[in-house]
Amino acid sequence: MQTRDDDFRTIWLSPEDPATVQVIDQRHLPHDYRVLDLRGWRDGYDAIADMAVRGAPLIGATAAWSLYLAALHGGAREVGRAAESLLAARPTAVNLRWAIERVSALASSADDDLPGRVRRDAEAICDEDIEICLGIGRAGLPLIEAVAARRPGPVHVLTHCNAGALATVNWGTATAPVYLAHRAGIDVHVWVDETRPRSQGSQLTAWELARRGVPHTLIVDNAGGHLMQNGEVDLVITGTDRTARNGDVANKIGTYLKALAARDNGVPFYVALPSTTVDWSLDAGVGRIPIEERDAAEVTHVAGRYNGETVTVRTTADGTPARNPAFDVTPARLVTGLITERGVCAASEAGLRSLFPDLAGA
Ligand code: MRU
Repeated sequence: MQTRDDDFRTIWLSPEDPATVQVIDQRHLPHDYRVLDLRGWRDGYDAIADMAVRGAPLIGATAAWSLYLAALHGGAREVGRAAESLLAARPTAVNLRWAIERVSALASSADDDLPGRVRRDAEAICDEDIEICLGIGRAGLPLIEAVAARRPGPVHVLTHCNAGALATVNWGTATAPVYLAHRAGIDVHVWVDETRPRSQGSQLTAWELARRGVPHTLIVDNAGGHLMQNGEVDLVITGTDRTARNGDVANKIGTYLKALAARDNGVPFYVALPSTTVDWSLDAGVGRIPIEERDAAEVTHVAGRYNGETVTVRTTADGTPARNPAFDVTPARLVTGLITERGVCAASEAGLRSLFPDLAGA
């Protein structure tokens, strides 16, 4: 939903029909801006599984709105059925489970206006997500300001995948400090990793940075190390789909390699996350966070625009075997700091506990 020329929300209730949830259909970006109508919870499931919506916070928000549609059409029993299915829509982003557990709790209490309550909670989840992302932006802004104060010229931030407004309800996590810096008049420039195989960097991050007027340059996934070696990256900021209690972070495949290159070159490597992305039940992430394996066709084929049509072409020989793990885990020791809505902390259990003693448990 367009809110200003340079601004949008990714999910909203149709102003014309309170039984329709609408999302930006990200499968068609950057070439076409299309809105997808979700009229039942299965539409929400399909939107998540087929990546019409993606990004950990937005996956959670879409699940919450899907449960609203389930409550509207089938009451508490349908909410239960939908919750069970939705949980399996994508395995890595923990926001999915977080949102489903939060909304499902409403369905267990007797209520004659269950759809109304679930609707208010889905709205609250979205409003909170915007506030959380702005909090991340405020917490991360001083990191960019510090570089700008140190020397003249643009501050170069490298990011991977899309942890932008399109991955959340608005503002994004990794992009929020960049947007606030840009609005504050700081000369900030973003290196955008293409992010094969789904190309979230070239298709989504570049699109939203352009819309908001933030200078950026697209690079292939393998260019980051070279740029770091040549002093052309001041800091890396990525998002995460699930953060373990010890600060290990799962994010889009290739994030780990960027963290290794950053460490070798003394470039600070920050991960931006809402507290909803912390999986407090996991004491470590490496080997423990479920990693989604996607269709090998995403590796052997590429989609693009040709003569005004979106076409998919095979880039490999027929029958070339391919594998497509969609996420990897960056160990906490490679992470300079976690940028959260409550401030920046060390990527460690002590760091997370210091900011979130209320969520960390005993
Ligand atoms: O497969 P995707 O596009 O859902 O992966 C998204 C990411 O890896 C993002 O970096 C992550 O969800 C953080 S979003 C703020």
